[in-house]
Amino acid sequence: MSKSDKIYVAGHRGMVGSAIVRMLQNQGFENIITRTHNELDLTNQQQVQQFFSQEKPDQVYLAAAKVGGIFANDNYPADFIYQNLMIEANVINSAFKIGVKKLLFLGSSCIYPKLADQPMREDVLLSGYLEPTNEPYAIAKIAGIKLCESYNRQYGESHGIDYRSVMPTNLYGPGDNYHPENSHVIPALIRRFHEAKINNSKKVVVWGSGNPKREFLYVDDMASASVHVMNLDKEIYNINTDKMCSHINVGMGKDLSIRSLTEYVKKVIGFDGEISFDTSKPDGSPRKLMDSSKLNYMNWYPQIQLEKGLTLTYEDYLSNSYNIL
Ligand SMILES: NC(=O)c1ccc[n+]([C@@H]2O[C@H](COP(=O)([O-])OP(=O)(O)OC[C@H]3O[C@@H](n4cnc5c(N)ncnc54)[C@H](OP(=O)(O)O)[C@@H]3O)[C@@H](O)[C@H]2O)c1
Repeated sequence: MSKSDKIYVAGHRGMVGSAIVRMLQNQGFENIITRTHNELDLTNQQQVQQFFSQEKPDQVYLAAAKVGGIFANDNYPADFIYQNLMIEANVINSAFKIGVKKLLFLGSSCIYPKLADQPMREDVLLSGYLEPTNEPYAIAKIAGIKLCESYNRQYGESHGIDYRSVMPTNLYGPGDNYHPENSHVIPALIRRFHEAKINNSKKVVVWGSGNPKREFLYVDDMASASVHVMNLDKEIYNINTDKMCSHINVGMGKDLSIRSLTEYVKKVIGFDGEISFDTSKPDGSPRKLMDSSKLNYMNWYPQIQLEKGLTLTYEDYLSNSYNIL
């Protein structure tokens, strides 16, 4: 592809979409198009079709989605399944109709069964029950993968299309959501330790035992993996995937306990008080780690280790006054 190809990044104001835009700009792509949610509601079929007919992009990164934590997923299941299904169906179908040959869909590790063997390989998809709290969201994400696969199967040869999917592990980095009740673990810890530091508190209480193990990837690594997968040679992609199991895991390849994560955050923030674990609060699954060896085999590895990523994230937190939320 050429550096002047027109690339549409859907969801460019989100944490992942903005990192993809930064990555493409750094790599010299000069024709990136974006629309805010207000300018283009991706759940609206007519608006999406009109946008694609006017702009005719060459490539699409689909990083727009209705995203939220456990509370939001549990309380607004209809919004999560409806909006995500509509966004995916509208974007993928409209892209196909105007002749987009290459599209990358971003899913999530919650597509895998709750009790999947660890680390989770791509082929455990649809082999068991999902986690009930985010099942509607996960079903929509699975539908996104299946949309890409079905368009490839029906039109891949006749129309030369190649739509791919990546499944990120837990992400963190600049532009994260620091909402006090609705954020993921890293931004929630950053906020709590930062507030404890500036209030001279002696102790930070962390929910759960600290024993569960989780995997975290810095968002710029996710963006580099996305651009890498989008541009992988078709033969290499096809050898490493299957027509009906075509998605690729993107993770760090290693996990750590919430207790260790908490120690890292404490150090990066410079809090010198105590940490205590509130074991009356639920722990969730003991372990969630993705098997990213397929992507490693296709020559992609993460570059940013946790401590460096946390430092960059905290710098972004301080410079953007997210703490004023
Ligand atoms: N963050 C993670 O840890 C993580 C982990 C795994 C997978 N992912 C996946 O990565 C993708 C991006 O996540 P993110 O963390 O970047 O989420 P995010 O920060 O919430 O960004 C999502 C973007 O999508 C836009 N959007 C939502 N509904 C829209 C609509 N109807 N029309 C137009 N734009 C719409 C949002 O705009 P508004 O804010 O204006 O609505 C926002 O800019 C998602 O598919 C998510 O599942 C994220």
